[in-house]
Amino acid sequence: MEKFVISGGKPLKGTVHISGAKNAAVAVLPAVLLSDEPCTIENLPNISDVSTILQTMSALGAKVKLINKSTVEIDPRNVRSYVVTKQMAEGMRASSYFMGALLGRMKHSRVAPPGGCDFGVRPIDQHIKGFEALGAKVTIENGMVDAKADELRGSSIYLDVVSVGATINIMLAAVKVKGLTVIENAAREPHIVDLANFLNSMGADIMGAGTGMIKIRGVDYLKGADYSIIPDQIEAGTYMVAAAATMGDVLINNVTPKHLESIAAKLREMGALVEEFEEAVRVKMSSRPRKCNVKTMPHPGFPTDMQPQIATILAVAEGTSIVTEGVWDSRFRYVEQLTLMGADIQVDGKMAVITGVDALSPAPVKAVDLRAGAAMLIAGMMAEGVTEIEEIDHIDRGYEEVVEKFTALGADIKRVYYDENAGALKRA
Ligand code: EPU
Repeated sequence: MEKFVISGGKPLKGTVHISGAKNAAVAVLPAVLLSDEPCTIENLPNISDVSTILQTMSALGAKVKLINKSTVEIDPRNVRSYVVTKQMAEGMRASSYFMGALLGRMKHSRVAPPGGCDFGVRPIDQHIKGFEALGAKVTIENGMVDAKADELRGSSIYLDVVSVGATINIMLAAVKVKGLTVIENAAREPHIVDLANFLNSMGADIMGAGTGMIKIRGVDYLKGADYSIIPDQIEAGTYMVAAAATMGDVLINNVTPKHLESIAAKLREMGALVEEFEEAVRVKMSSRPRKCNVKTMPHPGFPTDMQPQIATILAVAEGTSIVTEGVWDSRFRYVEQLTLMGADIQVDGKMAVITGVDALSPAPVKAVDLRAGAAMLIAGMMAEGVTEIEEIDHIDRGYEEVVEKFTALGADIKRVYYDENAGALKRA
């Protein structure tokens, strides 16, 4: 087993380079299955969710060749299997994108229900509604979601909830079907635009990505493409909050500042200096943060994937802040861990009332999910003394070289291998 051991209390200073976006990469890679020619994907983050997707693509029959740690060449022409087993899908929400991609490619997909972070119920009814509107018959057999069609055809789909996953899955299934598909009430996240740009660079005809209405006119053939994934909005946001929370001064490089506006706005409200450059943002904090209220919403609102991190800095703000979760039913499991570090947070349904304390204190904590894990890292760097974080495999799913990047900014974080049974500690 591995854990992080953090000796906190040091302000972060310097420059950090942001990797490619996890949530774009996990959509673009399955989309390669729709191509009629090999593709090269660049700026992939080197994280376990990406490795899992690539392994799944190999298992389906694609030829996957790693060119370097962030570039991969994929030839999907020999893919004959339409089955993604439970073993392949486990631990990864994005496995659901194989439903749309394989349905679009082979008119048949059989995919185990997706894993990923535990936020209570994570339904896929809107994905299924979309596949059915395109003409597929969707059944659940032996715990697998089976979607099959003799012929798929374009259709109009109104999403009852704004869903990133359903929007992406319907785009994937529809890109090569006959006729026009319209997705109304579509999600507008940057990774949806990235997926549309990738598909269009192969010859797809997708308009409106980034707005609430996406129009997809089916094409017969998709040629190969060389494509570079956009920078990770949430990784960037995590470093922005970490810089402010540790009273640091950090230049966050290789970002799209427009994607970070809601995060920058909240940090400014707390008293941070946030400067925007063409492909970078600088965050500097010189005084105790001020309280502020945050409500998460689909893009362009404040991202739910930044909710645990922002709550962590607010835990030491002057005054009482209210954080409202507007996307997921249950995303406050990390609060119990922050409370172990001395935070004063009361959760009532979708709302957390955070009364700022003077400082967090170190404690043994767990990463209960990916972004909760990022919040624990920030909390550990804020607290003077030694904090240990267990269950860090969640963090490795989504943050490339997290120890190296924070260490380069002056943090003291070690990845420690330990033998649970012997209780022995060994540094990596
Ligand atoms: N929902 C439904 N029915 C559906 C699909 C979704 O009711 O068929 C509901 C969900 O229960 C939730 C809301 O709609 O309340 C939004 O869910 P969405 O489908 O947008 O989430 P997702 O596609 O499963 C992606 C990201 C998450 C991020 C959400 C919201 C990926 C791989 N995952 O999940 O990212 O929280 O969008 O922005 O893109 C993360 O990176 O840490 C992460 C969890």
